[in-house]
Amino acid sequence: MSVNTTSKLWVNHKIILNLFDAQRHAPKLKDVIKNRIKKNLKKLKKLKTEAIRVYDRDIPEFPFIIEEYGDDVVIWDKGDGRDRDREHFNLTQQVCREIFKGELFIKERQKMKGSTQYEKLRTDEYKKIVSENNIKFVVNLSNYLDTGLFLDHRPMRVRIKRESEGKRLLNLFCYTGSVSVYGALGGAKVTSMDMSQTYIYWAIENFNLNHIDLDKHEFITANCLEYLKSENRKFDLIFLDPPTFSNSKKMKNDFEVEEDQDYLVNHCMRLLRNDGVLYFSTNKRSFKLNDTIRNRYNVEDLSLKAIPIDYHDKKIHYCFKISFMQ
Ligand SMILES: C[S@@+](CC[C@H](N)C(=O)[O-])C[C@H]1O[C@@H](n2cnc3c(N)ncnc32)[C@H](O)[C@@H]1O
Repeated sequence: MSVNTTSKLWVNHKIILNLFDAQRHAPKLKDVIKNRIKKNLKKLKKLKTEAIRVYDRDIPEFPFIIEEYGDDVVIWDKGDGRDRDREHFNLTQQVCREIFKGELFIKERQKMKGSTQYEKLRTDEYKKIVSENNIKFVVNLSNYLDTGLFLDHRPMRVRIKRESEGKRLLNLFCYTGSVSVYGALGGAKVTSMDMSQTYIYWAIENFNLNHIDLDKHEFITANCLEYLKSENRKFDLIFLDPPTFSNSKKMKNDFEVEEDQDYLVNHCMRLLRNDGVLYFSTNKRSFKLNDTIRNRYNVEDLSLKAIPIDYHDKKIHYCFKISFMQ
């Protein structure tokens, strides 16, 4: 009994000491994160974009992601919710308020009735236009977990624009159509497909914003998995960037990118011209491309080349260039 009491006292004493310690170190800790963000910003100034990942979990004690959209900033909490993470998260918010002039949006995991969900901080909608390589995109910083522009695909977008002149481009799982916009501006006739009507409208908004003639392009709201079976037209370029997992009410069967990769790739290859190229990308961290695909087609692993300099997480996505063996 007496041993227990002593150990409780000892534990309490330790907590008090830790709290005292944390307060004493807060200014120094604040400098750690502040200096890192400032250093990153300096390095990233040369990027011709208003949408930049300025902090990518660089310091393990600060497991957060920070992206800048013009003057505004979004912070994602990627920590496991421990006390120390919370304190560091608050410090990071303070630092962001000091560095960035605009609005601050926080995407924070919160335990809700046993499940983990993201909560949005603002209820009013906050949309704005940002420019990337002089191409404009609408982003929504308030209403979704994602902003409408995945910054990790910036190098892929540039590559697709470069290869688009006179081509037919199929963009599957197109989301807000950022890859489609680059392709259209590069001279491709683009077919954009997504299951979500909201994202197809958003893609059209992005086309309009860049003064692209909608009549020359095609937007389809459909399940890509179904569409792939029924389409017979041929394309020169296909961009295939499915989610890791999908089990929407609109689909008969669940979908998992690694399990269903043969189906996806073989169908895309069926729709590809002999000299065409399929770019297959996935964000699944443990993804392995099947040997059945490697043995049947030419496969070039572009994963590292396709990661922009503002990302420190080198496993953010895998990307493969797949073509027919000649
Ligand atoms: C990973 S994002 C694609 C990112 C996009 N390629 C880009 O670079 O911005 C996932 C998208 O897939 C769409 N989606 C999920 N399952 C789908 C399906 N079976 N058919 C069509 N679209 C689907 C979602 O609506 C969402 O827009």
